[in-house]
Amino acid sequence: MRRRVLRATCDHGFEAALADELATLGAVAIEPGHRGVGFEADRETCWRVTLGSRLANRVLVPVAQFPAGDRRALHAGVERVDWPGWFDLDRTFAVDASSHRSRESHTGFIAQVAKDAICDRFRAETGRRPSVDRRAPDVVVNVHLAEDVCTVSLDAAGARLHRRGWRGPTGEAPLKETLAAGMLRLIGWQPDVPLLDPMCGSGTFLIEAALIAQGRAPGLLRLGGEGFACQRWAGHDAPAFEAVVTALRQQGRHAAPLLVGRDADPDAIRAARLNARHAGVADLIRFEVGPMQRAEAPAPTGIVLTNPPYGDRLAADEALYRDLGDAFKQRFAGWTAWVFTAVEAPIRAIGLKPARKIPLRNGPIDCRLCRYDLYAGSRT
Ligand SMILES: C[S@@+](CC[C@H](N)C(=O)[O-])C[C@H]1O[C@@H](n2cnc3c(N)ncnc32)[C@H](O)[C@@H]1O
Repeated sequence: MRRRVLRATCDHGFEAALADELATLGAVAIEPGHRGVGFEADRETCWRVTLGSRLANRVLVPVAQFPAGDRRALHAGVERVDWPGWFDLDRTFAVDASSHRSRESHTGFIAQVAKDAICDRFRAETGRRPSVDRRAPDVVVNVHLAEDVCTVSLDAAGARLHRRGWRGPTGEAPLKETLAAGMLRLIGWQPDVPLLDPMCGSGTFLIEAALIAQGRAPGLLRLGGEGFACQRWAGHDAPAFEAVVTALRQQGRHAAPLLVGRDADPDAIRAARLNARHAGVADLIRFEVGPMQRAEAPAPTGIVLTNPPYGDRLAADEALYRDLGDAFKQRFAGWTAWVFTAVEAPIRAIGLKPARKIPLRNGPIDCRLCRYDLYAGSRT
């Protein structure tokens, strides 16, 4: 692939952090936008970003852009793309559609029209059409309408990049890995700073922190499983791809961070330990079963980063937030605490004044990441 203009998508609030990360992965002409970052990259850099970004959800390779005010224009524009040049008939595919301020806003309809157009192009050239697989497609096509202009892209990742390959069956409400890694970056956590999550659930913050500490590319684990869609594109240069993978495998550092996870639910800790083992970081994280109300600071100073229960998925409870605040005040003097929770959660019950509030989202839920600087004797 010659140098192309690509786009990596991310969650709201992480655009600047993703832009910084892309620069470290070799991207150039980086332009942060809304929930994504434009950049230029050659084929190798595209692979390095796809396997190496901790914050990106998708890596999109645009293949066509055209005005599409109605069904006919949309179909014709998608059909004009050289689809048999991008993937073989025996590959399954799926179309991911989105729409912003366009006449056509029904994403199911947009995806259907695009899918038909792709099949029509294959039929015209080969007499046959590839199959659609919505659950686990080999290839993912992304169709985005913005003010009636359609951008058609191939998704180099395929399944979204938060699927690192380390998570087993989950309990309740795990954070997306990309969101957890993004927050670690936003708060400026460094591997030499002790990190505690006293309500760690499946261990997402700690496992992502351990991978950061090791300098391990997050996509390497996935290569042994579902892999990446770009490996299944026509003419994929496997030896060149392997060379990038080998270089990524050789990266990394010997790290000994202090990472502690705690949860009141023994099943959550069992899942967290298993996840850490899958991720290859079990020996870097200390997990313990017990209530946050009795958590002790494992070092004189460090960072608490936690995501207490909230909102409609888990019962939010004023008493829990009050207890969290009491634990901070009584046993974490000298630490900085970051609490990620829904706007509706009773966070005031913590009883401390946040030094900073960062607005973020967790899927459809408006959230805040609040920082508390805990001094000896700190109250409100
Ligand atoms: C929203 S989940 C955290 C999800 C986690 N960030 C992850 O990615 O899997 C909240 C967690 O708090 C735990 N929890 C609730 N009350 C607790 C308490 N008093 N002490 C410790 N853990 C508690 C629950 O068991 C649950 O695992």
